[in-house]
Amino acid sequence: MQSSWLENYTLLTFDKIDSTNDEAIRLIKKGIQGNILIVADKQTNGKGSKEKSWKSIAGNLHMSILLQPIVDINRITELPFLVAVILNETIKEFTSTLNAPKSDIKLKWPNDILVAGKKLAGILIESINLKGENYVIIGIGINTHFMPDIPNTEVTSLFSEGVILKNSTFFLNNFMQKFQPNYIKWMTNNNFNDTREKWLKSAYKLNNVVTIDNGIIKVSGIFKNIDLNGAICIELDNGNVQKFSSGQISFSK
Ligand code: BTN
Repeated sequence: MQSSWLENYTLLTFDKIDSTNDEAIRLIKKGIQGNILIVADKQTNGKGSKEKSWKSIAGNLHMSILLQPIVDINRITELPFLVAVILNETIKEFTSTLNAPKSDIKLKWPNDILVAGKKLAGILIESINLKGENYVIIGIGINTHFMPDIPNTEVTSLFSEGVILKNSTFFLNNFMQKFQPNYIKWMTNNNFNDTREKWLKSAYKLNNVVTIDNGIIKVSGIFKNIDLNGAICIELDNGNVQKFSSGQISFSK
């Protein structure tokens, strides 16, 4: 792997591990400092969002970026959107340069990447405060080659979308090359609006009827926007707009 972003990271690679996010948590508890990138070919206990598991097939990309961003802790909710926007740009680059058919890439609130309505990648962000220090773990799973079973979810891979990568490192390298300068910009500029606007341009089902279930209430309405904290804004039948900072969204077909 030859890239300038590497100068800013300690890279840890594993053939097999339980979960790259859990490895990051162990390292934090051991007192590790600096930017760490953990990559595993296979995970035996990969974690998905909402306490689901993430089936990890050897050959796909499983990575966690461990960072100590110097920002107000409330801004951590912006990170899934920044990562999704950069994933979108990376995927586009592969689909446009490798003679692959032009893909319909969409960003599903809050943290999925879909191609032609099927899940290609997921993001799991965990934040930890230990001894007064804030750590963030950005876990990313991308189906570069294979399609793991995800219950009730249509799944795709870069391979089935026509992108043939010799191995997932090609994707990793391209993504990190874009991520590092954008992360620095995000930290210093304190301007989520640029990211938010880019994210909205590719938002899945924007201005369509969606149903959101946050475990307490379930409402349907029109997906109008995301706010400056990344909360989804749903317009109800009575015209009121209700915001949700977490929850599962579904769509009528
Ligand atoms: C989702 O449910 O969509 C989020 C999936 C996140 C999976 C990745 S794979 C690398 C990292 N390590 C984990 O255990 N999970 C994340």
